Amino acid sequence: MSLLPWAEHEHAPEIGTIVCLETDIPKVGGKEFIFGETKRPFRMFILRDGNDIKAYINGCSHFVGTPLNPNNVGNFLDANDPTLIYCGVHGSRFLLTTGACVSGDCEGEGLQPVPISVADGQIIIG
Ligand code: FES
Repeated sequence: MSLLPWAEHEHAPEIGTIVCLETDIPKVGGKEFIFGETKRPFRMFILRDGNDIKAYINGCSHFVGTPLNPNNVGNFLDANDPTLIYCGVHGSRFLLTTGACVSGDCEGEGLQPVPISVADGQIIIG
């Protein structure tokens, strides 16, 4: 499956957009951010990976356009293994560190990372 690069998605935030404070990201689990008030907004989530911070498009590689947290349920992590991101639709699991699928209907695929950086305590796109 070929996925659209993150920046080409409708409503993708521009490089340099301030997303939140670094302290807004919980110690465990991810936080979702939505850009564009439409039926098909740009949805992404940010979570901690040890001392690092990762961001991915909130879209499962099993069904493109389907968020991993249907009805906003869950914190994006596998309840039994917090090193894995969990899709609440059909249960696929992805490595938190890379977004690569490790089990489920997404095998051979993965989540799409969104580049972020931290500066002065703020998380910024790019
Ligand atoms: S939509 Fe995520 S596993 Fe099916």
